[in-house]
Amino acid sequence: MSERQGDHVDPSPEPTPDLPSPEQDKKRRPIRDSFDFFSNFLKNPTSVGAVLPSSRFLSRALVGSLKHIQEGELVVEYGPGTGPMTAVIKERLPRNARYLGIELQSEFHELLCGRFSGMDFHLGSASDVKQILAGRGLPRPARIISGLPFASLPIPVQDSVVDGLVWALEDSQCDFRTFQYAHAYGMKSARRFRARMSERFEHFERIGPIVRNVPPAFVLRYRGVK
Ligand SMILES: C[S@@+](CC[C@H](N)C(=O)[O-])C[C@H]1O[C@@H](n2cnc3c(N)ncnc32)[C@H](O)[C@@H]1O
Repeated sequence: MSERQGDHVDPSPEPTPDLPSPEQDKKRRPIRDSFDFFSNFLKNPTSVGAVLPSSRFLSRALVGSLKHIQEGELVVEYGPGTGPMTAVIKERLPRNARYLGIELQSEFHELLCGRFSGMDFHLGSASDVKQILAGRGLPRPARIISGLPFASLPIPVQDSVVDGLVWALEDSQCDFRTFQYAHAYGMKSARRFRARMSERFEHFERIGPIVRNVPPAFVLRYRGVK
């Protein structure tokens, strides 16, 4: 009996040699991310502010526990980049809590939208947080997690991000978490940022250094507007 064309469906087609399998794709992702990140750093050194994405060790320490976040409450991430912290937030965020990532670079924004389905990303500056949340009908955040390179940001941007934080953290238990590299911790611009934050916020805690990150970094926590 002859086999009719079109009746036979091969259940295990041969892999196409030049397309990576999803497993291979996952393994290659850190290398590709490092490459994308580095080329973005070369194009925008002050706003990217680092040569490599954060490790999972730093990402976990920075995100912390999200168990207390209630239904409908919002977690905001500043400067997600290629998304190492976003991945930890996605794992830890309780169901029915909300998330918004605010990213300045369009290449990173596009990558994040493709990679994290069901999570929202805004292309713009964290210094406009008040307008961005109002425009999307979102409440003040319950936590802000920041990957912004404060030490290398221009002073006016640094100051407007701090003003936005004062608005976001006013009359709330929201905490703000960011990181600074240990080797740059004593730099004038890094000290200036901490001094500005100490003028505006009641509570400060330093965690680390997280030595398994390259380079090692401190996690900084602020809460309670003065
Ligand atoms: C040091 S990288 C950190 C990226 C990622 N969070 C990580 O830890 O690997 C800084 C990120 O902040 C973004 N960024 C810089 N200035 C920004 C701003 N004003 N608003 C939002 N994102 C900004 C950069 O494009 C970059 O993705």
